Amino acid sequence: MDSKIKKLEERLKLAHLGGGEKRIEKQHAKKKLTARERITYFLDEGSFEEMGVLVTHRTTSFGMDKQIFYGDGVVTGYGTVNGRLVYVYAQDFTVFGGALSETHAEKICKVMDLAVKVGAPIIGLNDSGGARIQEGVKSLGGYADIFFRNVQASGVVPQLSAIMGPCAGGAVYSPAITDFILMVEQTSYMFVTGPNVVKTVTNEEVTSEELGGARAHAAKSGVAHKTSPNDAACLDDVKTLLSYLPQSNKEKPKKLPYELGDEIREELKAIVPENPNKPYDMQDVIRGIIDRDSFYEIHKDYAENIIVGFARLGGRSIGIVANQPMFLAGVLGVKSSTKAARFTRFCDAFNIPLLVLVDVPGFLPGTDQEWSGIITNGAKLLYALSEATVPRITVITRKAYGGAYDVMNSKHIGADFNYAWPTAEIAVMGAKGASEIIFRREIAAAEDPAAKLKEKEAEYSDKFANPYRAARRGFIDEVILPETTRRKLLKSFAMLEKKHVDPPKRKHGNIPL
Ligand code: COA
Repeated sequence: MDSKIKKLEERLKLAHLGGGEKRIEKQHAKKKLTARERITYFLDEGSFEEMGVLVTHRTTSFGMDKQIFYGDGVVTGYGTVNGRLVYVYAQDFTVFGGALSETHAEKICKVMDLAVKVGAPIIGLNDSGGARIQEGVKSLGGYADIFFRNVQASGVVPQLSAIMGPCAGGAVYSPAITDFILMVEQTSYMFVTGPNVVKTVTNEEVTSEELGGARAHAAKSGVAHKTSPNDAACLDDVKTLLSYLPQSNKEKPKKLPYELGDEIREELKAIVPENPNKPYDMQDVIRGIIDRDSFYEIHKDYAENIIVGFARLGGRSIGIVANQPMFLAGVLGVKSSTKAARFTRFCDAFNIPLLVLVDVPGFLPGTDQEWSGIITNGAKLLYALSEATVPRITVITRKAYGGAYDVMNSKHIGADFNYAWPTAEIAVMGAKGASEIIFRREIAAAEDPAAKLKEKEAEYSDKFANPYRAARRGFIDEVILPETTRRKLLKSFAMLEKKHVDPPKRKHGNIPL
């Protein structure tokens, strides 16, 4: 018996060493944790239960039969984060560079299947040189098995991807399908084809970091939703993100204890400037509404003219979509519409109520936008909000112009409550543009056209640059004092807590992609 126990112990010891001491040292030298260290840091102490620790690959070509590592380059299993069950897999770069083999893929699929059956989030810690080159198509098949499961699990359980090393070629498409991608700065990169292929095909000289590092994907492509300075910070970010989410689409996010008593927020009074063309920071409005320090921003550096992220209101998780007048006056463009649409759909899929804060002068004009498909992309946000059945509340702080008024969670597309501040301007367009069109002849015929324009602008502003016409029609439920916004939202979201809508039966809608 003793010798049999010893055999097991030896095997487990080997498994825990991954690719061996030397490769672990190399990993540390790159300021990266190993797969096991990451899992230990990520999960509640002592909660990890590993699955498939003794799995090995089945390849014999290219001398692979002599290179056997227990676990085959990925550590998989389950554990808890702040007491909540999660499934996790961490690719082990010390074993064949974390490259994905048939068996490596099978291990990932196993935990994904369990996550869906049980109903708990799945978190992938990616650090891999891609397809296991020695395995050829078996490895490609393994990827597709994972992609397929990512799609089946989409909208069923939250799927989060941390990119903590290389993630190249086909490997990128699993994280791409998951709900959120978090990247570690400097040590991680993602691309479909690396710098060498780029050089050969397009003659561009670019480094891995420039092409697919955390900064590039956070600010330029929008592939990354968040970046962190190191492995530990990235894992902390994943944990915080999880705290806003439910276990699955069958549940609501857990309400955290929160002591009320700060419902009136005087600081909200002074945010919107007198001059309607002067920018202000919508982040101040968000801070003025939510539970203190509870904002978790997504896509912070991408399409900054719109803000999206999770927050808490009286301890309850909400999703916020807000125009940001500080950037491009808060217009809706191709990128900002897509960013907000995807976030909206995530919140709707996982029963997270939506708060939409509006200060939008319209859609971004120009050939660049038109040729990049602002029509199709703007429609994504319109579609996503229209189909969302979670509680949806809108607050118009200032401008709500033109088609963008409709898109930004208007009453007409199913919002449950629409508030406006007294500073709201709900109109087809700004007073100047409107006057130039409808009073064109009158202005041209005037002795002093500039003065006439000013006069007409004032006339138009007086009539339309306010929330009262919309309120008279019931398009706005209430015009509220800014300082009471938090109190109003606490009450109306609580009132909507049991909202239930059965969408029409269909296979699925056809969101403009
Ligand atoms: N398949 C099999 N083994 C792989 C691998 C792959 N796709 N990628 C890396 N490895 C192995 C290396 O052979 C090396 O093995 P060793 O420890 O026995 O020497 C180990 O993983 C580490 O790789 P190394 O190249 O030394 O690490 P690095 O940090 O310098 O570079 C990469 C990392 C990912 C940039 C580099 O390994 C690479 O370009 N890999 C191939 C990527 C690729 O084309 N994948 C297939 C298409 S998806």
